Amino acid sequence: MDDFRYKISARNDLLEKKPSFFIRTYGCQMNERDSEKMAGLLTQIGFATAASQDDADLVLYNTCCVRESAEDKVIGHLSYLKRLKTERPFILAVGGCMPQQKNIAQLLKEKHKYVDLVFGTTNRHRLPEFLWRVMEKGERVVDISEGDDLPEITDIAVTTREFSHKAGVNIMYGCDNFCSYCIVPYVRGRERSRPMAEILEEVRALASDGVKEIMLLGQNVNSYAGGIADWSFAARTARPSDPGQVSNDEQPSAFPELLRHVNEIEGLKRIRFMTSHPKDFSDELIAAVRDCEKVCKSVHLPLQAGSSRVLADMNRQYSKEGYISLAEKLYAAIPGLALTTDIIVGFPGETEDDFEDTLDIVRNVRFAGAFTFIYSKRSGTPAAERTDLIPRKTANERFDRLTAELYSIMTEKNMQKVGHVIDVMVEEAQPNAESINSCKNQSSKVFSYRGRADDHTLVHFTAEKEFLAGEITPVRVNTAKTFYVSGSAV
Ligand code: SAH
Ligand code: SF4
Ligand code: F3S
Repeated sequence: MDDFRYKISARNDLLEKKPSFFIRTYGCQMNERDSEKMAGLLTQIGFATAASQDDADLVLYNTCCVRESAEDKVIGHLSYLKRLKTERPFILAVGGCMPQQKNIAQLLKEKHKYVDLVFGTTNRHRLPEFLWRVMEKGERVVDISEGDDLPEITDIAVTTREFSHKAGVNIMYGCDNFCSYCIVPYVRGRERSRPMAEILEEVRALASDGVKEIMLLGQNVNSYAGGIADWSFAARTARPSDPGQVSNDEQPSAFPELLRHVNEIEGLKRIRFMTSHPKDFSDELIAAVRDCEKVCKSVHLPLQAGSSRVLADMNRQYSKEGYISLAEKLYAAIPGLALTTDIIVGFPGETEDDFEDTLDIVRNVRFAGAFTFIYSKRSGTPAAERTDLIPRKTANERFDRLTAELYSIMTEKNMQKVGHVIDVMVEEAQPNAESINSCKNQSSKVFSYRGRADDHTLVHFTAEKEFLAGEITPVRVNTAKTFYVSGSAV
């Protein structure tokens, strides 16, 4: 334990009651995982969890800035917290992606003086030190690593997890793609991959702790370790690492290789990954998804836009035709595959014809799900310089047309599952377990559950049996809606 961890846990141990913390998380899985790590760290240094922010001694906001709306939410909550602070004392910390932008760090520093601690995306492991300075020294701490080359991430050993049956595992940090609309490369820094041996060790530990489903996380997982398995990269990170059984002269692609290794880990039932970039989806990766029985037959493949011209403006490095042929290749190679996607409408300069190209791909690829966004200007990105903005009304109208198209396809796809039996991993029991009296006067219970099929379909189902999260059971589907199907365990 380092000096500050020791100091602050000793301090907390002396208190009559442990100080409590509450973390609110915005943004992607990366942030969710960071929050779990920070919760683990806080627990380790003598904090207890609080049920809500209204009675916590430390309120920590882990923020996102990918779109303006994400930032607005945080700023909105801050004014509530400012008021709350006048009623009772507590420590307010704001971390994550938002303060990693210079203008926001400045704003928090100068205009939101009631925020006691501001930190970024790469120094979260220094929380014990920051908290010591705030709690013991009465300092206000604003500490953000700046510059293009954000430092190496120091990992935190996790001791808490939000779910017992599933966990995310970071395989890389940052992003080098610089899509012209996106702030992530600026707030998360350059791509840094973790050594394979370290990842495998973490997954093994999670599996032996009862985790059944792993999500391998990164902004661009298929460029893990630079795309090619060059084992010297593990040495470059200056950590002891065993490249395993792979010989140097084979030079396999690193991410497919990682998938194959994770697939062998005992106790795991399902492996997912997010996010993969179409430009890096190699034939080797298709083969690995096809071959590895634990790798789920569902791929999230962000499209962003359908028009090749807009895609070039976005710096996505693939064309409309390229995306369609990749989708066709994936469907042909992997039976039962479900593709989901991210789409932005209203990118500067998007014409009606460009938007029609997006609808065209949606009809052609028939996505099983999609996150849809209206373009949001992020200062500091190349697209923010564009003056050919799309009127809000046009963007809204395109957004509605896009979701209508997506939803009708999603409903149709779900309808095709009616009558079929699919394997579902239980995620959680619903509270409405009901008692039914059978004709023989014996009472039997029916339980309601929520779970996911291998292809990520959300499934609501009933069963007469009690299941634990992470168990897999066959379910016969009897009804279908846009976002889920319902059925009963067989
Ligand atoms: N690394 C992932 C996702 C990053 S952010 C990828 O490349 O796919 C998640 C999604 O937010 C993106 O896929 C994109 O659709 C959306 N997004 C990012 N920046 C945006 C912006 N400025 N305006 C609107 N949507 C944006
Ligand atoms: Fe952003 Fe593009 Fe990187 Fe995804 S790949 S995080 S959209 S820059
Ligand atoms: Fe948001 Fe940061 Fe993730 S900006 S989307 S939380 S990497």
